[in-house]
Amino acid sequence: MAAFGEAAPYLRKSEKERIEAQNRPFDAKSSVFVVHPKESFVKGTIQSREAGKVTVQTEGGETLTVKEDQIFSMNPPKYDKIEDMAMMTHLHEPAVLYNLKERYAAWMIYTYSGLFCVTVNPYKWLPVYNPEVVLAYRGKKRQEAPPHIFSISDNAYQFMLNDRENQSILITGESGAGKTVNTKRVIQYFATIAASGEKKKEEQSGKMQGTLEDQIISANPLLEAFGNAKTVRNDNSSRFGKFIRIHFGATGKLASADIETYLLEKSRVTFQLKAERSYHIFYQVTSNKKPELIDMLLITTNPYDFHYVSQGEVTVPSIDDQEELMATDSAIDILGFTADEKTAIYKLTGAVMHYGNLKFKQKQREEQAEPDGTEVADKAAYLMGLNSADLLKALCYPRVKVGNEYVTKGQTVEQVNNAVGALAKAVYERMFLWMVVRINQQLDTKQPRQYFIGVLDIAGFEIFDFNSFEQLCINFTNEKLQQFFNHHMFVLEQEEYKKEGIEWTFIDFGMDLAACIELIEKPMGIFSILEEECMFPKATDTSFKNKLYDQHLGKSSNFQKPKPAKGKVEAHFSLVHYAGTVDYNITGWLEKNKDPLNETVIGLYQKSSVKTLALLFANYGGADAGQLYAGGGKKGGKKKGSSFQTVSALFRENLNKLMTNLRSTHPHFVRCIIPNETKTPGAMEHELVLHQLRCNGVLEGIRICRKGFPSRVLYADFKQRYRVLNASAIPEGQFMDSKKASEKLLGSIDVDHTQYRFGHTKVFFKAGLIGLLEEMRDEKLAEIMTMTQARCRGFLMRVEYRKMVERRDSIFCIQYNVRAFMNVKHWPWMKLFFKIKPLLKSAESEKEMANMKQEFEKTKEELAKSEAKRKELEEKMVVLLQEKNDLQLQVQAEADSLADAEERCDQLIKTKIQLEAKIKEVTERAEDEEEINAELTAKKRKLEDECSELKKDIDDLELTLAKVEKEKHATENKVKNLTEEMAALDETIAKLTKEKKALQEAHQQTLDDLQVEEDKVNTLTKAKIKLEQQVDDLEGSLEQEKKLRMDLERAKRKLEGDLKLANDSIMDLENDKQQLDEKLKKKDFEISQIQTASREAPKLGLSLQVRELEGEVDAEQKRSAEAVKGVRKYERRVKELTYQSEEDRKNILRLQDLVDKLQMKVKSYKRQAEEAEELSNVNLSKFRKIQHELDEAEERADIAESQVNKLRAKSREFHGKKIEEEE
Ligand SMILES: Nc1ncnc2c1ncn2[C@@H]1O[C@H](COP(=O)(O)OP(=O)(O)OP(=O)(O)O)[C@@H](O)[C@H]1O
Ligand SMILES: [Mg+2]
Repeated sequence: MAAFGEAAPYLRKSEKERIEAQNRPFDAKSSVFVVHPKESFVKGTIQSREAGKVTVQTEGGETLTVKEDQIFSMNPPKYDKIEDMAMMTHLHEPAVLYNLKERYAAWMIYTYSGLFCVTVNPYKWLPVYNPEVVLAYRGKKRQEAPPHIFSISDNAYQFMLNDRENQSILITGESGAGKTVNTKRVIQYFATIAASGEKKKEEQSGKMQGTLEDQIISANPLLEAFGNAKTVRNDNSSRFGKFIRIHFGATGKLASADIETYLLEKSRVTFQLKAERSYHIFYQVTSNKKPELIDMLLITTNPYDFHYVSQGEVTVPSIDDQEELMATDSAIDILGFTADEKTAIYKLTGAVMHYGNLKFKQKQREEQAEPDGTEVADKAAYLMGLNSADLLKALCYPRVKVGNEYVTKGQTVEQVNNAVGALAKAVYERMFLWMVVRINQQLDTKQPRQYFIGVLDIAGFEIFDFNSFEQLCINFTNEKLQQFFNHHMFVLEQEEYKKEGIEWTFIDFGMDLAACIELIEKPMGIFSILEEECMFPKATDTSFKNKLYDQHLGKSSNFQKPKPAKGKVEAHFSLVHYAGTVDYNITGWLEKNKDPLNETVIGLYQKSSVKTLALLFANYGGADAGQLYAGGGKKGGKKKGSSFQTVSALFRENLNKLMTNLRSTHPHFVRCIIPNETKTPGAMEHELVLHQLRCNGVLEGIRICRKGFPSRVLYADFKQRYRVLNASAIPEGQFMDSKKASEKLLGSIDVDHTQYRFGHTKVFFKAGLIGLLEEMRDEKLAEIMTMTQARCRGFLMRVEYRKMVERRDSIFCIQYNVRAFMNVKHWPWMKLFFKIKPLLKSAESEKEMANMKQEFEKTKEELAKSEAKRKELEEKMVVLLQEKNDLQLQVQAEADSLADAEERCDQLIKTKIQLEAKIKEVTERAEDEEEINAELTAKKRKLEDECSELKKDIDDLELTLAKVEKEKHATENKVKNLTEEMAALDETIAKLTKEKKALQEAHQQTLDDLQVEEDKVNTLTKAKIKLEQQVDDLEGSLEQEKKLRMDLERAKRKLEGDLKLANDSIMDLENDKQQLDEKLKKKDFEISQIQTASREAPKLGLSLQVRELEGEVDAEQKRSAEAVKGVRKYERRVKELTYQSEEDRKNILRLQDLVDKLQMKVKSYKRQAEEAEELSNVNLSKFRKIQHELDEAEERADIAESQVNKLRAKSREFHGKKIEEEE
């Protein structure tokens, strides 16, 4: 532990403390956790048990009586502050909670839990991230070092190098739990241990840039300045998700990196809650640390001058905006943005601030907005490189495309304000995404890369009071990630058991997330309905809701109607997620998903003199051409402007890409936990933490981890590593296969034999057993080492001993001599000897001379010999030199060819690298292709569905057509009948008129005759006035006759008038009929047209299209949309036709009525005519009679005249006679 320096106490307690804690008195029977109404769980001791009830005295002194299942056994002190909770004997919620809590109280924030690494936010800086800690974790196995994010990182790194597999580290948790902090630590770790070591990007063309690791680390301050903000829960809350991939070369050195971002919360640009703040960058530029920025952006140092950024707070105590501005600024430089780009970044930030101050007012007596002052617009336009008048005009009078033409549209003040907000958000978002793209370009080195480690920092599952579209996206992401985890842990685990032939009953972990995921993302799921609704111009939130209800309510158990409750925000539907039921409010989803922008202003942006702004919108094609700006990653510049993409579609595409990426990796899971809502270091709220543990699957993970056999070792490895445990089990010099050896070995050692299983290639262990084996191995090794050490020490000691003995002997000798000398020192003879001794020297020197002479002779001889040898050698040397030169020449030649070969080799390596890159590209493209393919097949299926629906529609249409045709035939027949009848009527009418004419003539005749007769009669009457009573009578009857005739005449005139009327109405009817005939003909024509159109066009087209689908799904989509339109048109047409035919039928009925009436009239006329005829006949006969009588009367008158004459003559005679008599 010494290697960890001052961090050691925060990572693992000292031996002494541990031993103390483990020796605490403990009664396994009575120590329990008990359910508590306020604290969730508390520690306590059992007082008594009776009839299913237990009385517990809590630590706090309370006495609780609870049911049996509300107490949980405590783990023995041996497990105190255990590092991997999967090892615990009693594994349940309170044990996990209290272990975390106790570790947290001791500032040990990292704890393992099976596959997970759980970390609790300490809310204060611990020394656990110091450089020496990095070094201490380097190369350590997970079991060998205390839990730490560095350990996870190092393991991922080791796995990558050993297994040659991509790795990913998934860091999730609620807001403020510490995801971003841990992500940064991971990156710091890799940047330290795998630094590429070369100063590659120095002063290129005057740009100041850092090394790759500097750049990777610098990406953070920049992204945080633009993507982080203060929220209620977190002063530095990331308002976007990110996936950072760090690529390593073959030797494990950093090679490059890329970043992908998800779902930037752009609404914050224009709106903040009271206790929150907008993105840091706004307050950094107003901090006045760089006064030149204030001048450049035409802003003030007071954020309250800018409405968009001052709706909540403007300062954060824990953040120094001035310092952060410097960090942002230098990050921009290190990341290699050009001076122009840097200026553009600041200017656009300033422009967004000014946008919030744009004011508009209503024109008098008009619903039209007009600018209220132009100063702000001038500033904003200046910063964006636009003409301010153009900008204002485009805002107040945008030009919209109607069909193929552009028309100018008026805007209300509200509409203009909304458009300004949308534009500000779009500029900000696109700038953010563009920066990510640029960073990626910068981090994308040309160094060969082999494998990557991805770090995912994304918001965790959360349930708020008000959950909107964005929350659905986040929760859906987490649902997917949880599924990924489940899949990784549960399914793969069990599959592995099956593959290895281990007896194992398949566990259904009840975490079947597929239903919820399908409900959201499958065709006809929530997203696809939302996208469909976005295509209909008339769709509203309500129609969207209705569609959702029609499709899913009652059919999917995950889709529910929200239960209304008092004080709850209005919700429209509930989804049952793995971590809980969430109520969603769908207000404004369609708008959010379509995300429309004022295209006239976009047009101006595209022509802006600020190149960066023009670039941001370069691929904006308007609502019908899509608005994607690829969100980073290697395909940074890739444009998909061709098809309209809604926000949800883009999100799903990115998420799918992420999931594919993750599925190709070996994942490591880190779960961040927020211990309390008040940011208090050291305090832990039980309920809050338990909720998070449930939400993020930690508890479930532990349970399953313990059920299975999480540790596994290959037989060969096992044999190799653990053979020391009992070497005699595997006899030396005799072959035994690894499996059998392992079985024998495990069988021979003293462990719990139920704790392991033998698979086909590996041996599987329950959690904890490997630890035990390791311990045993360590002990054994320690024993062996001690033995070896003892031997060595013994040997060394013996050597030393021998030396010591020798030393002792020599000491004895010296002592003896010294003593002897001391004894004889003062002896006179001895003194004499001392005196004489120096004189002995000369005698000695003569002897030496003689010796020297002898030696000189010898040396001379030797010299001669050596001289001869030297000559010989020199000769040899000449030869050798020659040889050497030859050889050198040869070497030169060979070196040349070697260089050649090396060059070729280099070239080959280069081509290999290129090819590898190509292969990567191709595989990536293939992946993309596959994705697209999958999408296309989904689309194809959808289209096919639509096709079949269309076919059904067409069948229906055909049916209705046939019906209409039948009806048409019927009406035709009726009309034919009617015309025939009309003709007959015409004929009869003609006949009648003829007859009438004849009658009239006869009448005239009779009248004339009558006149004549009358005249005659008149003359006669005149003649006969004077006649007797008989004549008067006759005259009276004649008078009566006259009266009768007058009546007849009147009737006749009336009849004539009626006839004329009838003729007129017949004419009208004929006209009507003609019109109807025309209409009918038209209708016939149209029906035949429709028939052919509906029979040929869509059917043939569709079947053709279906065949072509695989190849040209895009075209297909368009065509099918047209077909849908066509069918809808036909539907409308058919409706019109049926309506028309109904109208016609009504007309015909009316006509028939009219005809009937006419017939009746004609009949009555006929009758009247007949009556008139009869009458005239009667009159004629009367007339004749009268004439006859008249004749008779005349005759009689004649007779009477003659009688009168006779009488007169007689009277004259008589008179004469009388006179004669008188005379
Ligand atoms: N390991 C840690 N050591 C010290 N402080 C920490 C640690 N983890 C988190 N914190 C503190 O908590 C704050 C919030 O952490 P962080 O920003 O990582 O949260 P987050 O999970 O990313 O939240 P969000 O989802 O809002 O982005 C940090 O600013 C820091 O003050
Ligand atoms: Mg964060």
